[in-house]
Amino acid sequence: MNTGNHTDTSMPLTVTDVQDLADGIRGFTLAQPDGTALPAFTAGSHVKVQTPSGSVRKYSLCSNPFELDTYRIAVKREDGGQGGSLSMHQQLKVGDTLPTSAPDNAFPMAENARSHLFIAGGIGITPMLAMIQSLEHEDLGVPWKLIYLSRDAAYTAFVHDLKAYGRRVTVHHDHGDPANSFDLWPALEKPAVGQHVYCCGPRPLMEAVRDMTGHWSAKQVHFESFAEGGEVKPDDKPFTVQLASSGKSFEVPVGRSILATLREHGLDTPSSCESGTCGTCRTRLLEGEVDHRDMVLMPEEMDTQIMICVSRAKSDRLVIDL
Ligand code: FES
Repeated sequence: MNTGNHTDTSMPLTVTDVQDLADGIRGFTLAQPDGTALPAFTAGSHVKVQTPSGSVRKYSLCSNPFELDTYRIAVKREDGGQGGSLSMHQQLKVGDTLPTSAPDNAFPMAENARSHLFIAGGIGITPMLAMIQSLEHEDLGVPWKLIYLSRDAAYTAFVHDLKAYGRRVTVHHDHGDPANSFDLWPALEKPAVGQHVYCCGPRPLMEAVRDMTGHWSAKQVHFESFAEGGEVKPDDKPFTVQLASSGKSFEVPVGRSILATLREHGLDTPSSCESGTCGTCRTRLLEGEVDHRDMVLMPEEMDTQIMICVSRAKSDRLVIDL
């Protein structure tokens, strides 16, 4: 969990391999400069790295958690982004140093699960790879299935590796046509006892899975998103957030989260995923109308709670219990 040092990329790792995994997706292998073991992590963990552009980005570890000589991350090039992933693609080479954080897990596998269903969209496959390798390594006989959705084969990383798992893996391409969307309902209609579902991918996929799992126990449905701080929407506007304890108010600008705004003003408040999926930054709402953008809160909680890493205000002012 982060408690303010969320951009602490103080572990310098060496890039030992760079591979093109699919169109627009590049894999990087990282190791300690002296070849010693890396900090342990559990499947679903991410690290933050300081990209060559200077910005900090979060990437899931997609390597086997039982092999700590290297970490592997896969980076999708976001041409319309803020340059972080582009600089990873264009500038990072074998032998370079990449400032990296210790691993943190905002998307852990349920330890008591009787079976796992993984639903990945595009680059959302990365945490699932660590989960699958972890399950296979432990070999405890816990069954799993993966549904891996992407636009076209050319943009789909790791398919060759996944072939080894045979019929446990379903790969589907919609070729950009919603009429070809994969029907997830047969997989989600009847949750088995002890089954857990994990979804990582674009927002519409996560929303579809959330909508189709309304009859599941919320504890058995897990999401991970790479959209740190949430998405910027065209009609976003600045608003004021006021802290109940001190009465202090801060302006939250467009493109910056409440969490980031509070940290800029020196307030230390816990977080982990920073993308509205883990629940760590849950905060009591005292006044104001929220534009909820998380994947955590139940409808009955929305009048009294807010996830400050992604959600914004519909009203001009929010008062939160901090
Ligand atoms: Fe995970 Fe906000 S830090 S929901």
